[in-house]
Amino acid sequence: DWNMPDYISEAVAKIREQVGTDEVILGLSGGVDSSVAAALIHRAIGDQLTCVFVDHGLLRLDEGKMVMDMFAKNLGVKVLRIDAEDQFLGHLAGVADPEAKRKIIGREFVEVFQVEAGKLKNAKWLAQGTIYPDVIESAGKGKKGQTIKSHHNVGGLPETLNLKLLEPLRELFKDEVRKLGVALGLPHDMVYRHPFPGPGLGVRILGEVKKEFADLLRRADAIFIEELRKTPCDIPALESIDAGEAPKNWYEATSQAFAVFLPVKSVGVMGDGRTYEYVVALRAVQTLDFMTAQWAHLPHSLLGKVSNRIINEVRGINRVVYDISGKPPATIEWE
Ligand code: XMP
Repeated sequence: DWNMPDYISEAVAKIREQVGTDEVILGLSGGVDSSVAAALIHRAIGDQLTCVFVDHGLLRLDEGKMVMDMFAKNLGVKVLRIDAEDQFLGHLAGVADPEAKRKIIGREFVEVFQVEAGKLKNAKWLAQGTIYPDVIESAGKGKKGQTIKSHHNVGGLPETLNLKLLEPLRELFKDEVRKLGVALGLPHDMVYRHPFPGPGLGVRILGEVKKEFADLLRRADAIFIEELRKTPCDIPALESIDAGEAPKNWYEATSQAFAVFLPVKSVGVMGDGRTYEYVVALRAVQTLDFMTAQWAHLPHSLLGKVSNRIINEVRGINRVVYDISGKPPATIEWE
C-alpha cells in the first residue's frame, strides 16, 4: 500500500531518470489507466510526452470530445487525435474470434503509434497504462496451461517498433491507480469512471465487428450509463470502490457496467407491426480486484427503465437482457 505523495515523487524521479531527454509517446484510450499514466508522465516530463488518442471507431459515445477536453484543453497535455476508424474496421471485417480481434486491434494500435512516433524525432519510449492485474492475468496460466486472455496492452512489442516500454503503473491495483489519479489532480468523476478495455467496443460486439453494430451499441450503452448515474442508491459501499463512502448512485455502486451487442435477431412487436431486431445484454458488476466479480443486484425498476428506453430510442434493438453471471466462471467482458 503506497502513500501517494511519496509514490508520486518516487515515480516522477524514476521516470525522469529512465527517460532523460528522450521523447515519450503514449496511447491515450480514455480509460482510467492510460489517463492516469498520462497525467503521471506529464507531471514528470511535461512536453516530452506526446499522447496519441486513437479513435478506432470502437469508443463510447462522445468519448473523443471528453478526452480532448480533459487533456488537451484542461491539463495542457500534447494530444494528437487520430481518426483511424476505417483502418480498424477494415482490418476487423470478417473476423469473429475474440483473441483474433484483440490481436488485430493491438497490431493496428502499434502501427498507428509507429507512424506517429516516426514524426517525433526523439521518440524512444512507448508508455502504457498497464496495471498489476493486467500483468498477472496475461502471464497467468489456466489449469491446462493456456493464457487466460491476452490483454492487448501487455507484452512484447514487435522489434520493428524500436521503442522501449514505459509502464509506470505496473505495480498498482485499480484502487491505487484511482488514488494516484486524484493525487495528480485529475477530476474525481474522471478517475472514478469505470475502466474501459483497450479494444473498446471491439470486444463488446460479439463476433464480427461492424460499424452499424457499434453505432447501436454506443447509444444503448450511453442510456444505461446515464440511468445508472441518475438513479440514487442506498446500499453500503464496497470498500474498494470509493474508500468507504456510501455510493450516491448506481454508477458509483458498481465497478463496471456496460452494454454488450449480441448479433442475434429475435421477434418483437411494435405498434401493429412485428419486429425482427438485435439483442443487447446489460452487464453490471461489483468487484474488489477485477479478478473475481459478482453481478450487481440492480433494482428491477432501474432495469425496466433502461430496457424501455433502449427499445424505444434505439431503433434496431428490440430486446434487452440482464447478465446474472459471476466471475468466475464467466468473465466480466463477454469476449
Ligand atoms: P475480464 O473480462 O477478463 O475483465 O473479466 C477484467 C477486466 O479487464 C478488462 N479487460 C481488458 N482491458 N484490454 C484491456 O485493456 C483487454 O483486452 C481487456 N479484456 C478485459 C475488463 O474490462 C475488466 O475491467
